[in-house]
Amino acid sequence: MSTQIKLSELSNRKPRKISLGENEVCVVRIEDDVYAVADTCSHSDASLSEGDVSDFKIECWLHGAEFDLRTGEVVTPPATQPLKKYEVLRDGDTITIMEPGR
Ligand code: FES
Repeated sequence: MSTQIKLSELSNRKPRKISLGENEVCVVRIEDDVYAVADTCSHSDASLSEGDVSDFKIECWLHGAEFDLRTGEVVTPPATQPLKKYEVLRDGDTITIMEPGR
């Protein structure tokens, strides 16, 4: 399963929530790179696409956990579990977001 989005539709460091099948994915453009992680915080039920991006981190607005967008790993508690990370392919302006391992 995959979905596509245009790089030119993404603002730098402004998260966008997209649907991939039944999952919601938080997509973030940082300059010319794009990262995609699960949209729901691994700590509780908060949408990460409503959080702020700094460096390569996204901060959950609810309790302040931070995740590394490049890996999905937790950088700052209270979250302890990493985020699912999605694969991103870029072909010109077209960004394809896919389930990992496909
Ligand atoms: S819900 Fe994200 S840090 Fe608590």
